[in-house]
Amino acid sequence: MTASPSPDDAVARSLAALRARSGRARGPRLAVLLGTGWQGLAERLHTPLAWGYDELPAFPALNVQGHAAQLLWGRLDGPQGPDLMLLCGRQHAYEHGNVAAMKGAIHTLAAWGVQVLVQTNAAGSLDPAMRPGALMLASDHLNLVQASPLLHESGTRRFVDLREAYCARLRQRARAAVPALHEGVYAWVLGPQFETPAEIRMLQRLGAQAVGMSTVPETILARHAGLRVLALSLITNMGCGLDGPTAAPLSHEHTLAAAQRDGQAAVQALVQVLKALADDDAGA
Ligand code: HPA
Repeated sequence: MTASPSPDDAVARSLAALRARSGRARGPRLAVLLGTGWQGLAERLHTPLAWGYDELPAFPALNVQGHAAQLLWGRLDGPQGPDLMLLCGRQHAYEHGNVAAMKGAIHTLAAWGVQVLVQTNAAGSLDPAMRPGALMLASDHLNLVQASPLLHESGTRRFVDLREAYCARLRQRARAAVPALHEGVYAWVLGPQFETPAEIRMLQRLGAQAVGMSTVPETILARHAGLRVLALSLITNMGCGLDGPTAAPLSHEHTLAAAQRDGQAAVQALVQVLKALADDDAGA
């Protein structure tokens, strides 16, 4: 029987695979994790290098529809554009209960030199004024799953300060680039079932503006690894019950259809945000 590799070994071998194909010792400063609805950004990369997640031992296997399971490295919108890594898809805790599913991927990015992680997701709105198609920057989050991806870490660094889980300066740059962005608190629920109307009312009372099934574990992992984080939600539906009893039932197909309808505009806004962040990095 062959022993499975230790997590550190899997990161080292993933890093070796990135170095071998790119011929570079370090990657770019910026990485983007593409969630449901945001995959169109991959088409905006100029002649990217690509690795399947299955070629990178620290990366997870994916089986949610609409996720490509590829890591790309390229420049956005042509040879002079911002240099970035794109993670096309994430593994979700609702698949198996493992909230640290993206740990190896994030440790690999950190070891590769990435300093900023921009996350994207699809989410339900808890704010009657924030309708499907809107985009929301996370100003903060509620970890309602009350589970941590840092559970098996040791040492004092695991006690991570999350006062600014989502970097205020990056958010300010993003809002300046795309003034229509909403901003609010993202509540993480495990799923995969959608919420009940009573749960949606509870989340509103807790002070959240959006609800979703991802992002928070990766934010915690990234902050622990020393990365700055920005998170952008594409609102695909109103929270269950907010559109009245006659609203169409929620389903994954509904989320994908809404993401399909509004994904292109979302990607365009994300491109503007990424260009602004890259300019900021150049000047920092
Ligand atoms: N709830 C939880 N996750 C979601 C939703 C929702 O209403 N919409 C998209 N992801």
